[in-house]
Amino acid sequence: MSDFSPTRRNLLAGAAATTAGLALGPRLALAAPGARARPGAEPVRLFSNENRYGPCEGALRAIRESVHLSSRYTALDALQAFRQRVAEEEGVAPEQVLVTAGSLEALSAVAGQYALGGGGVVCSELTFPALPEYAETLGGKVTRVPLDANLAHDLDAMEARVGPGTKLVSVCNPNNPTGTIVDAKRLRDFCESVSPRATVLVDEVYLHYLEPSPANSMVDLVRAGRNVIVVRSFSKIHGLAGMRVGYALAQPDVVKRLFQWRMALPNPLSIAAARASLDDKQFVPRMRKLTQEARRITSAVLDELGLKYVAGHGNFMWISLGADQLDLPARLAPHGFHVATVPSNPIPANISALRLTLGTVEEMRAFGPALRATLKGRG
Ligand SMILES: Cc1ncc(COP(=O)(O)O)c(C=O)c1O
Repeated sequence: MSDFSPTRRNLLAGAAATTAGLALGPRLALAAPGARARPGAEPVRLFSNENRYGPCEGALRAIRESVHLSSRYTALDALQAFRQRVAEEEGVAPEQVLVTAGSLEALSAVAGQYALGGGGVVCSELTFPALPEYAETLGGKVTRVPLDANLAHDLDAMEARVGPGTKLVSVCNPNNPTGTIVDAKRLRDFCESVSPRATVLVDEVYLHYLEPSPANSMVDLVRAGRNVIVVRSFSKIHGLAGMRVGYALAQPDVVKRLFQWRMALPNPLSIAAARASLDDKQFVPRMRKLTQEARRITSAVLDELGLKYVAGHGNFMWISLGADQLDLPARLAPHGFHVATVPSNPIPANISALRLTLGTVEEMRAFGPALRATLKGRG
C-alpha cells in the first residue's frame, strides 16, 4: 500500500460533483437490510468524505435567507465580520485569519508562496495530494517521505529530510487517505523543532472528528507566534462542501502574503452558512457521535468479512483489498453505493485499498449487507 499515490483528480473529482445523493438518506433508512436501492434512485456517495447528513438547519436557513445576495459580490464588512467570528472561535487575532474558497484555495496559496520557483516541500508519500501537486506545478521540489508501519506520518523521517532548500513541511492530521493521527505532543515538538528552519503547515480539516481536546490542534502555536500555518474547512463535519469555505491561520505577515495568492472572493451565501454552522454548538458534537457509530457498524462488518483496515479518525476508513477485490466499486454500484468517483474503473493494483467515506448510520447499516453480498459473489 505504501506506493499508493492517488492523483488529485481521483480524490477531488467527487468533491466537485453534485450533492444530490443526499436525498437518498431517508429512503435508504427505510430499506430492509440487504435490500437493493430502487432502480433510478440516486446512489449513496461514499467516496468524497462529504458529510452525508448535510448542513445544520441554521446553515440551510441562512442560505435560504441570503439567496437575494446571489447577484452581489460579498460585502467587505460581512467578510470582515466573518473573519472576526473565526478569529474568536480560534482564539487568534483577525489579522491571523485568511478566509478561502474551501481549504483547497488555502493549500494552493501556501504552495504558491513557498514552492514557486524551486522551494523545497517535505510531505508524506501517502497523503492528500493537492498541496504537493500544486507545489510541483509551480516548480517546487517535493520530497515525499514514506508513512510509518502504522500508515501514520513518520515525523522523525520527515524532519531528517528538512534541508537548507526546504521552505515548507506539510502534515495532514488526521491524514487523508489513511485516517491515522500523530500523537499531539510529538507533533507539537516536531513543529517547535522544524518551524525555525521551515514553515510547518498542519492540515486539520478532519480534526473535528476527534474527541475535542485543545491539545489536538496546533493552533496554539499560531497564537504563540510560531512559523506554523493551520488549515481548516467547513466541507467536512460542517457538511458545507459545496459552499466552498475554509481558512488558514498564520502569522499576520504570512496571511498578507497568502492573500496575494487568493483566486476567489468568498461567496456571500457560503459565509452566511458557515457563520450559522459555527453558531450551532450542538451540530459538530452530534455529527462526531454519529460518525463514531457509523465507524463502529462498518468495523463490525469488515471484521466479520475478515478484511484488514485502518478504522481511522476522520469520516472515512482505509480498507485493504485483495487482487480479486479490485472491481469492488463496480460490484457495489448496483446495490446503490458509489465508493469511487467512476465505479466502472477498478481500483489500481498498486493501490489495493479503498478509502471508504462513512455515510449516515442508516446508510452504513445498509452498506454491510451489500458488501457481504458483493464479496460473497452474489453482487
Ligand atoms: C486533507 C484535506 N485537506 C483539504 C481538503 C480540501 O477540502 P475543501 O477545499 O473542500 O475544504 C480535503 C478534501 O477532501 C482534504 O481531504
